[in-house]
Amino acid sequence: MASTVSNGIHKAISGAAFQNPKLADIAQDTKDFHDPNTKLTTDWGSKVSDTDHWLTVSTEDQYGPAMLEDVHAREKIHRFDHERIPERVVHARGAGAFGTSKLYESAEDVTGAGVLTDLFRTTPAFLRFSTMLGSRGSADTVRDVRGFAVKFCTEEGNWDIVGNDIPVFFIQNAIKFTDLIHAAKPEPDVEVPQAQTAHNNFWDFQCLHSEATHMFMWTMSDRGIPRSYGMMQGFGVNTYTLTNAKGERHVVKFHFTPTLGVHSFVWDEALKLAGEDLDFYLFPTWNFGTQTLKESQEHDFDFDILDATKVWPEELVPIRYIGELELNCNIDEYFTQTEQAAFATGHVVPGIGFSNDPLLQGRNFSYFDTQLSRLGIIWEELPVNRPICPVMNQNRDGQKRHTITKDKANYWPNRWESALPAKPSEGGYVDYPEKNSQSPPEKMHLISALAFELDHCDEPVVDNRMTERLCDIDLELAQAVAEKAGAPMDCPPWWLTRGT
Ligand code: HEM
Repeated sequence: MASTVSNGIHKAISGAAFQNPKLADIAQDTKDFHDPNTKLTTDWGSKVSDTDHWLTVSTEDQYGPAMLEDVHAREKIHRFDHERIPERVVHARGAGAFGTSKLYESAEDVTGAGVLTDLFRTTPAFLRFSTMLGSRGSADTVRDVRGFAVKFCTEEGNWDIVGNDIPVFFIQNAIKFTDLIHAAKPEPDVEVPQAQTAHNNFWDFQCLHSEATHMFMWTMSDRGIPRSYGMMQGFGVNTYTLTNAKGERHVVKFHFTPTLGVHSFVWDEALKLAGEDLDFYLFPTWNFGTQTLKESQEHDFDFDILDATKVWPEELVPIRYIGELELNCNIDEYFTQTEQAAFATGHVVPGIGFSNDPLLQGRNFSYFDTQLSRLGIIWEELPVNRPICPVMNQNRDGQKRHTITKDKANYWPNRWESALPAKPSEGGYVDYPEKNSQSPPEKMHLISALAFELDHCDEPVVDNRMTERLCDIDLELAQAVAEKAGAPMDCPPWWLTRGT
């Protein structure tokens, strides 16, 4: 396994592991198999004296009828029979490593997120690199998009940037993702070719979707075969948002730029390596940067800045590098620390939010959903995925729940006020209030239409309920409608003081 041994990272960071709260937390679940005092046991802890022979009725040899009574033998086979979990529907082939992120400049002018503003922090991170199309066990050095998924374990919760090594994507809308991936994966009648797009269905899809052209020009270029994980860029691709302490919002794209530079293989080298060493890739460091725009600048460009098939030209929106991301610790076990690693674009922390990019909005649904079939509902409790900050809520039961909560209140509101929501001043996440999309003339038309129609309603119950409903939407709207309809709007006092 060239990817974990030949780079020497393991030795270099053995001391650092203890300062990394994520690794310290994972250590609690880690068993050292080489402890000389450890003896073989069953899963229920009973010591085992023979694990090489199934108990038979014959005392002479092992060929007598096998006995059901040998629970250890049956347990061993049971566990083996159920070792596999579904592979990821995309990005199934991958490698993971732990690292840390530090800032050299605070981005407090654009965000309140501690991970992007606190210069004294070292934030533990986990990265998973992947190819998009190949199954588990396919070659590293194929021509494909590479996944660049980062989990920042911040003091305010986990923040996942689930990105790629190419800054744009094939499609603009998440509903096209299934079509794209079905067309790109091996063809359904013959299940070939593996981990490559050299087949009819892929190119059929491409010629039927002009918006995919930009991305296939990237994948067919030398960028399609990075020389190593440490020599490729990472891009959040989608547009996110940042909100600062004053409540001002910016739109943002995230960038990771490798300090080793960006390098690729040529096709002939890649072919040779895929044959010689399937597991070729190595790890290292990136500069972390943002491209930000004020919300008011959203329409200043001759392209839609929320369109994931476009880049934001750096000459128009320069990258501001604010920190670095370093990989410095190999995993100890592939299954628990990489196969079970799971990301979700919906995982954000206060100060970071979503844009209306329709691809991102769909992804926010898809990742959580796919983890359910791969890992089950409690996937965020698995050691590699769980946050380093306290997690406290009323979600309790569910298959494979590990955490034991000492509290009678598993509902909200409750008489003890236990696990009560945090106010914004206490670090509670605040959803940014979207601006009303109606122009002033459109607002006038809406008010007139409502006033006209409600003026024709003479049942008091309708009046009262609609009064409440309009107050709920917007007090100014409710008052304008009331004035126009000639009746003072009579909002219940509780309604008027809501949210103040
Ligand atoms: C900007 C476009 C996209 C990027 C950059 C991207 C990136 C990635 C990456 C890096 C992974 C691998 C995560 C890992 O290492 O475990 C992944 C997995 C996945 N992506 Fe995307 N993806 C994109 C679009 C989409 C869309 C539009 C959907 C669905 C609507 C989607 C659904 C999935 C699913 C279901 C997985 C498997 C996740 C798992 O099992 O852990 N992706 N994606």
